[in-house]
Amino acid sequence: MKKKSTVILLVFVMALCGLLAGCGGGDSESGKAEGDQLKIGLVQLVEHPSLDTIRESIIAQMEADGYKDGDNIVIDYQNAQNEQANLKTICQKFVSDGSDLIIAISTPAAQAAFGETQDIPIVFSAVTDPVAAELVKDFNAPGGNITGTSDLVSADKIMELALQITPDIKTIGALYSSSEVNSASVIQDLKTYAKKKGLKVEEAAVTNSSEIQQAAQSLAGKCDAVFSPIDNTVASAISVATDVFNSAKIPFYVGADSMVADGGLATYGINYETLGTETGSMAVEILKGGDTSTMAVKVMDDMKAYVNQSTAKTIGIKIPEAILKDAEDLGE
Ligand code: TRP
Repeated sequence: MKKKSTVILLVFVMALCGLLAGCGGGDSESGKAEGDQLKIGLVQLVEHPSLDTIRESIIAQMEADGYKDGDNIVIDYQNAQNEQANLKTICQKFVSDGSDLIIAISTPAAQAAFGETQDIPIVFSAVTDPVAAELVKDFNAPGGNITGTSDLVSADKIMELALQITPDIKTIGALYSSSEVNSASVIQDLKTYAKKKGLKVEEAAVTNSSEIQQAAQSLAGKCDAVFSPIDNTVASAISVATDVFNSAKIPFYVGADSMVADGGLATYGINYETLGTETGSMAVEILKGGDTSTMAVKVMDDMKAYVNQSTAKTIGIKIPEAILKDAEDLGE
């Protein structure tokens, strides 16, 4: 009898310890009481220069607004290495950790976060088409626990630039990932534009970055120029594509400035540092109690042409002065 009650007492004490540890836990590494700090889950699909720039700008802006990692907030940054399964595991953990806010960089990351919670506020960054991705009902009235910034680009504008630089395009290749909604909507616009202008579109959709080499080679054999939208899979292995196109002297028009810096010929697009900054401000607004359901999705309007003069030289193309005077050269 005595033995039994000792065991019960022991179990009770252990349970109490567990409870106390559970209440105070989670932040033992930083040595702070949890009550002081807000938990932010930050999920990024993959590390490529554009998404990295965005992440750094978000964190910098939050800090400028008084939300500093390790101080009054704890940012749990996770990179999913372009794997859908990783995105799900990461976002599930953010939810079970009781995050106060989730920041999701890219369309697939935002979709994964939204798939796990309809309660915790989510701010997304660089989601090309949040309506097509079924994250918000309307840019101006998101309607749920999610809002953020969009890097909507115009395939028309990029193609107009392409036709100014290389007017003889008859067949345009489209290199993109079949699993990214962000690419699908831009490719749809490209097709509409091409039809209007009497251009032929040759598509090469890849399912992962290991297929880019072959897809690029097949396009190089049958196109006058190639276009890639703001596609994460292409962006994360872009040197494979630029090697093929630049040595075949095929102009490669891309969806983002980072892809031009990485060897693409030109784009007409937004500034991703600004987009990150705007995302950081929205995150702060939400931490201060802002309502995601009525906070409009922000679209960037500081578009301009980005060119790579070193690529132009490699493929033997002269970019017209009229374009150069307003463009930023990201070559070298
Ligand atoms: N817009 C992309 C998306 O919706 C993410 C992205 C941001 C991106 N910058 C980029 C993709 C640059 C390719 C290149 O997921």
